[in-house]
Amino acid sequence: MSNTQTSTEIKSQAGTLSVRASTVPLVPTGALDKYEHIDLTPVIGREYPNVQLTDLLKAENADELIRELAIIVSQRNVVFFRNQDIDIEQQKLLGNKLGILSGRPQSSGLHIHPKDPPSQAPDPEIHVITSKANKKKEYENEGDISRLASREWHTDITFEPVPSDFAILKIHTLPEIGGDTLWASGYEAYDRLSPAFAKHLEGLTALHSAKKFKLFADAEGFGIHEGPRGNPENVGSELQAIHPIVRTNPVTGWKSLFVNKIFTKRILELTKDESDATLAYLNRIVADNHDLQVRFRWNKNDVAIWSNTSTFHTVTRDYGDELRQGDRVVSLGEKPYFDPASKSRREALGLKRWFDL
Ligand SMILES: [Fe+2]
Repeated sequence: MSNTQTSTEIKSQAGTLSVRASTVPLVPTGALDKYEHIDLTPVIGREYPNVQLTDLLKAENADELIRELAIIVSQRNVVFFRNQDIDIEQQKLLGNKLGILSGRPQSSGLHIHPKDPPSQAPDPEIHVITSKANKKKEYENEGDISRLASREWHTDITFEPVPSDFAILKIHTLPEIGGDTLWASGYEAYDRLSPAFAKHLEGLTALHSAKKFKLFADAEGFGIHEGPRGNPENVGSELQAIHPIVRTNPVTGWKSLFVNKIFTKRILELTKDESDATLAYLNRIVADNHDLQVRFRWNKNDVAIWSNTSTFHTVTRDYGDELRQGDRVVSLGEKPYFDPASKSRREALGLKRWFDL
């Protein structure tokens, strides 16, 4: 399969596999079982030590393998591949295929970050992750001066009305030591709630905002990219959206917590005080439970693929002024929804409820 396939070509090939729907979770076929893999914790993370993603893309049954990968990423939250030879065009192809083959809406493509205007970024569908960015200044612009390492737990681009389903990050430049990334399971975060508290939260909605990007762009003298940013609904410079705080992942059918420290500002059906207290507690579930997290120590050219529908992540900024840099592709999924008939991960897998342990 050529690396230069257009999104439309992939879509037409994937037509019969595009079955993402709220009531029909996708079931793994076992197509990747022949490859050695290690589950890194009971609830989150898997590594394939001997797989090149380019071999999956070139395989005769590439679509079957990549659809399976989309399901496994959705179930395990994040999957790691060491020392990859995948280039930027192949990374974009894989990003599109993961979404399309697992049934993302036709209106969704690859995200263009509002801070990466097409006039300035060499390839706006690639967001360069770099330690050169002045993060401290961004936070100060919105008055966020927390110095806790846990302040940056987030899910990518939840300020967009149509946020991401999958992200692929390849890190090519690393500090001598440090710069690990941590991911946390939104499924397990939901499963840590008491049934009564979970019921109270289901159906509530929250405002997500990235006003800080606009302030930063204004301060630095460049314009926000007004879009469309990978989906016709992701337009304008407001950079805010309203999403359910418990969300159903359409690939697995499992419920996930969907609020995060960076972008979620306010639960709309509660008073400000109730919202602040609730968000603080929900964020603690993610940041304080290291048994629902996985920490990855990068080597050059390692790749991580994660589900932004049901996963949180944060960088570890312990590397001083050294350069840490990589390329990220973010595929867009559907507008988040909550299906009351969906199950929690533990419920779907027949595991005991956390509350009863
Ligand atoms: Fe991120």
